[in-house]
Order: sequence, then structure tokens, then C-alpha cells
Amino acid sequence: AKELPLKGKKVLITAGGTKERIDPVRFITNDSSGKMGYSLAKAARDLGAEVTLVTATNLLPIPFGVEAISVQSSKEMESAVLDKFHNVDMVIMAAAVSDYRPKTQATIKIKKTNEDLTLVLEKTTDILAELGKRKTGQFLIGFAAETHEVEHYAIDKLKRKNADMIVANDVSKEYAGFNKDTNEVIIYQADKEPIQISVRSKDLIAEEILYAAIDSMHDEVGTD
Ligand code: PMT
Repeated sequence: AKELPLKGKKVLITAGGTKERIDPVRFITNDSSGKMGYSLAKAARDLGAEVTLVTATNLLPIPFGVEAISVQSSKEMESAVLDKFHNVDMVIMAAAVSDYRPKTQATIKIKKTNEDLTLVLEKTTDILAELGKRKTGQFLIGFAAETHEVEHYAIDKLKRKNADMIVANDVSKEYAGFNKDTNEVIIYQADKEPIQISVRSKDLIAEEILYAAIDSMHDEVGTD
């Protein structure tokens, strides 16, 4: 039906900032609240999709009718996403995944000394890029959180991670990005003009992202 364009589709969405443990009582994370991902989960559900939300936050209520998988680290998020990937039609990586994690994790609390403490960080897996390598028809949407040269980095991520769509947000703006109730985005896709979505609630931004994705998925299978 026209009103439920995602009926019968499985959509996997990630949300929140991953937590990378230093020791049992400390971690490295970022400012992602999960709001953008949760708005996408609600919007996809309302468009008829069967939604799985892999969430790195527990501060927001799980949307009704959405299956939630709770994770902490980027490693846990990677496992949960890869586990579901073969069985979904669309993935939206709205989570702010840590690019680095402590190379070792202390199993007991690190004690204070009089010396400086050096924390060695190692790179994490780029989950979106990994999905880009493995995809077999899934529509792959990534975000680009940038503070400068937004278009340049968004297009670079579109190509390098083999995504079908990159949603760029300029997180230096006070009304956009991390832990805000509103966002402003530009949607980039290969061979299409960028789509500018002016500032509005994350719920409405989420709808626009999904409408754009539905349009492009229809193009791919040659229907309208
Ligand atoms: O959660 P909110 O408070 O509502 O804020 C929303 C948001 C700003 C977090 C969201 O709109 C957003 O931009 N999410 C992506 C944040 C991010 O990590 O961007 P990035 O440009 O560093 O990464 C690019 C893409 O690769 C993202 O889709 C990210 O999920 C993915 N990635 C990044 C690193 C990594 N190791 N694995 C990944 O999959």
C-alpha cells in the first residue's frame, strides 16, 4: 500500500555513542544521545518496517513495536549488526561509533599514582565500511558528522565506505547534531543531486531520510 511503503521490509538501525572501556569504572565515549537513531526507528516502524534497533544508550525509552538490542562497545555493536545484516533490507548507521578504543582494558580499577598516565588507543572496525564490503542488495545509509568541509567528507565517506546514501550533518551548528532535538542535513547519493533538509525536529528529519531512501530503492528495482 502507498501509505506503508516499508511493509514487509526489515530495517536495522544503530543509535547512540559506543562506550570503550578503560577499566571496570571508566570508559571513553562521545556526545551522541541516540535521539537521531530512535527517531529513525519510529519513522521506519510507522512506514511499516520490521525494525531492529542496536542501541548503545539506555537513556531513551525503546519505541513500541521495535526490537532493541543493547550494546556498549563498538565491538559489541559490530557483532550485533553483522549477525543481522544478511537478513535485512536496509541499514542505517546513525550511531556515533568510536574510531579508537583503549588497546588494553584493565580488569581491575587503575590506581592513581604521581606519574602521568598514557592511554594507548587502537583503531576499531569501521562497521559501515565492513557492511559496504559485504552488502548483497541491502540499502546502506551512513551518517557523516562533520564540523567543516561537510560536502567533501560526506562524498568521501559515500565512496570509501560503499554506502548508498550518506546523511551529512554539520555538528558545529547549535541546532544540529549531537544531543539536540533538531537537526539539519544534506543527503548525498551517487549520481543524484544532494537533497537539503532544513532545520526541523529529528522525527521529521528521520521521515525525510526514509522517503529519500524509499525513492532510491524503488529506482533500483525499476518500479515507482
Ligand atoms: O544521537 P544524537 O544525539 O541524536 O546525535 C545524532 C548524531 C550526530 C550522532 C548522528 O546524526 C550522526 O551523525 N551519527 C554518525 C556519527 C559518526 O560517528 O559519524 P562519522 O562521520 O564519524 O562516521 C561516519 C559513518 O560511519 C557513520 O554512519 C558511523 O555510524 C559509521 N562508523 C564510524 C566509525 C566506525 N568505527 N564504524 C562505523 O560504522
